[in-house]
Amino acid sequence: MTNTILSVAQLTQVVSIGQSDQTTTLLKNISFTVQKGELVSIVGPSGSGKSTLLYCISGITRPTGGTVAIAGINPYQLKPNQLAAFRRQTIGFIFQQYNLIQSLPVFENVVLQQRLSHQQPQRAEIKQLLTKMNFAGQIDGPVATLSGGEQQKVAIARTILTDCDVLFADEPTGALDSASKAIIFTYFKEMVAKGRTVIMVTHDIELASQTDRAIVLKDGQVQQIVTEPTLATIYAALDQVV
Ligand SMILES: Nc1ncnc2c1ncn2[C@@H]1O[C@H](COP(=O)(O)OP(=O)(O)O)[C@@H](O)[C@H]1O
Ligand SMILES: [Mg+2]
Repeated sequence: MTNTILSVAQLTQVVSIGQSDQTTTLLKNISFTVQKGELVSIVGPSGSGKSTLLYCISGITRPTGGTVAIAGINPYQLKPNQLAAFRRQTIGFIFQQYNLIQSLPVFENVVLQQRLSHQQPQRAEIKQLLTKMNFAGQIDGPVATLSGGEQQKVAIARTILTDCDVLFADEPTGALDSASKAIIFTYFKEMVAKGRTVIMVTHDIELASQTDRAIVLKDGQVQQIVTEPTLATIYAALDQVV
């Protein structure tokens, strides 16, 4: 009986560039598995392919080669409506650029997923969640005028509320102050303690050193997978990169 929640095998992503028939390889031959209840970080220099990898392993971007299985299902073999339902039910994604709807107030952005899943948003619960996250804006105010950090909290709250089995997060704490960062990271720890799975891209080595495993990327390839990482072991792996 396996507890594998994510299985990535020989994943490759080749994209065409410009108008010619030139291509560039963004990801090359990436294989790893993630167990249910794991908190995994993906680290590497800017441009090493972290976001591309996260999109490919989460059912957002179809890779040009290799396979992805999330909870035993290859998302790229599903029909569009099946994929939409699967993503709603199983996957959470926190985008690096937040992907909020600027014309909607904070509350409506937070409950967006719930509305799509026909769940009844609980206003008191959402208020409490935002308060816990040290959210400094107005719940009925526009998101457009919020700082990057506050927008990031709205994006995180929206995803936390979905109770997803697997959470993919792209630099989820990149815009947060250290107190808010600690609060969010505690949420992730609580999620995995409950048997959910978190896979997080981060350039924050301090944070990565508190995860169960750190996948170190270099030029679109796995340089090393560091188990029970420490600051020293991640920096050592990254040193081989720069
Ligand atoms: N669709 C694309 N076409 C061409 N190049 C891309 C595309 N998407 C990303 N890249 C390039 O691939 C590299 C990796 O990008 P990305 O995955 O965003 O890296 P990271 O998240 O580690 O900073 C970068 O050099 C980026 O410019
Ligand atoms: Mg990125």
